[in-house]
Amino acid sequence: TTVFVLNGPNLGRLGRREPEVYGAQTYDDLVVLCQKTGQRLGLDVEVRQTDSEAELIGWLHEAADGQVPVVLNPAAFTHYSYAVRDAVSQRTAPLIEVHISNPAAREEFRHTSVVSGVASGTIAGFGLTSYVLALHALADAESESES
Ligand code: DQA
Repeated sequence: TTVFVLNGPNLGRLGRREPEVYGAQTYDDLVVLCQKTGQRLGLDVEVRQTDSEAELIGWLHEAADGQVPVVLNPAAFTHYSYAVRDAVSQRTAPLIEVHISNPAAREEFRHTSVVSGVASGTIAGFGLTSYVLALHALADAESESES
């Protein structure tokens, strides 16, 4: 099974970006971590990052059309993009929202996610491990749907 790991704006700068919040590991480290986790779980993981809302929405349409399960870190779009939310709503396969930090423990504007209500579930606050946990959740959902 192919799954997408889609990352929104500024996540390409992991490692250089506010390391006290997001950690010292780089975006390349994240890609390797997701691919290795996928190998262990029997998932073919495709990791992408964009700073563009339009590009992210295009990928969500691609996932919807192909019924591809998704791990999504919408980054700042989480808090205000109804367009990303509406794209997430169109899919039928599972989609797990992830965050590296715990937005609920940060500034007030991060307490709202416009995506959570249309995601299968949300995992936040575990650093890059949030992605590992989300991939496990997708693998579980996949084996449920096969049994
Ligand atoms: C984030 C949390 C968001 O509030 C922030 O805008 C990000 C990253 C996270 O992974 O912790 O860019 O999604």
